[in-house]
Amino acid sequence: MKSLNQWLCGAAALSVVAGAAHAAPSSIKTQPFGSVDGKQVQLYTLTNSHGLTVKITNYGGIVTSVLAPDRKGKLGEVVLGFDDVDGYVNDPNGTYFGALIGRYANRIAKGTFTLDGKTYHIAINNPPNTLHGGKKGFDKKVWSAQPFKTGAGVGVKLAYVSADGEENYPGKVTLNVAYTLANDGSLKITYRAVTTKDTVVNFTNHTYFNLNGAGNGTILNHLVTLNANRFTPIDTTSIPTGVLQPVAGTPFDFRRPHAIGERINKTDTQLKNGSGYDHNFVVNGRGMRMSARVYSPTTGRVLEEYTTEPGVQLYTGNFLNGKNIGHDGKAYPRRSGFCLEAQHFPDTPNQPKFPTAELKPGQVYHQTTIYKFSAR
Ligand code: GLA
Repeated sequence: MKSLNQWLCGAAALSVVAGAAHAAPSSIKTQPFGSVDGKQVQLYTLTNSHGLTVKITNYGGIVTSVLAPDRKGKLGEVVLGFDDVDGYVNDPNGTYFGALIGRYANRIAKGTFTLDGKTYHIAINNPPNTLHGGKKGFDKKVWSAQPFKTGAGVGVKLAYVSADGEENYPGKVTLNVAYTLANDGSLKITYRAVTTKDTVVNFTNHTYFNLNGAGNGTILNHLVTLNANRFTPIDTTSIPTGVLQPVAGTPFDFRRPHAIGERINKTDTQLKNGSGYDHNFVVNGRGMRMSARVYSPTTGRVLEEYTTEPGVQLYTGNFLNGKNIGHDGKAYPRRSGFCLEAQHFPDTPNQPKFPTAELKPGQVYHQTTIYKFSAR
């Protein structure tokens, strides 16, 4: 039987570079996207030499759109999102579509943690826990932004300074994020952060993908492969129990490709606790490595994810409910998008055995995550 690595490499060899049919210089376009809190926000349109197009706004650092080719080279929208900033500001569902998440991505139990002997309380915005940074996380801030073009591709550099005490977190945190779109179909996200006081940080990108096309039904037929032998089981409030459980023999075993829908409705305590897949997987190995591959048999589109982070949250859009009307006026029903949120494990500030999420003055936080698009 082939090893996971052999399988991953073999499949990569079969894939074609996203949109290889076109050939034009890569480009960046800047246009107004509306205003938030009295501040004008922009939309940056990055296009690579093959026509793959990524749109990013400096409101929340949100990836609003990715036009990716299918196996016939036809470009289509694969990201759930809105065509103007008001869609994000007024989102009725709290979806975090496409956004950069901070200061602490995912949940902290009861919004409480202790650091250096002091206890901190963050707003309970996902009872009984805090989720994705509290009441007004980095996803709801206007970031400073600078488009750029280098040999590596076209991109936009974003920066956000989170004041000491913002959302009750200690320390002033400066976060720099660069999105770079390369001609090989990869969208690279690099993060760099520093702090003025001991604090906890966890950053991620919360893009929802549908490789059949955003608004074209569910993602249940997508085949997922995860480079993970273990995952972090959760309690009924989605807080990890602290155990790193082997995936073997469970519906969480994606070491070989499985359709998302194949086991999602099985009677299983973990699937019940997450209302489907909404779990953090422990990515095998360290350093930059492949964490996930997703393939749509319908369109041939492939999304690969690579990351330096210890974990990836697979979230299968279980809380979408059709109330979000996005691109092309299409509704986004339950399970019509999936996220692969590269991150530290949820609730790490309360879990001494998890890889630490502490950041101290003098240290520099780094993360690189790549979403790579192709078709076969
Ligand atoms: C994360 C969480 C989910 C859900 C989404 C946003 O992925 O793990 O439970 O809250 O964000 O809807």
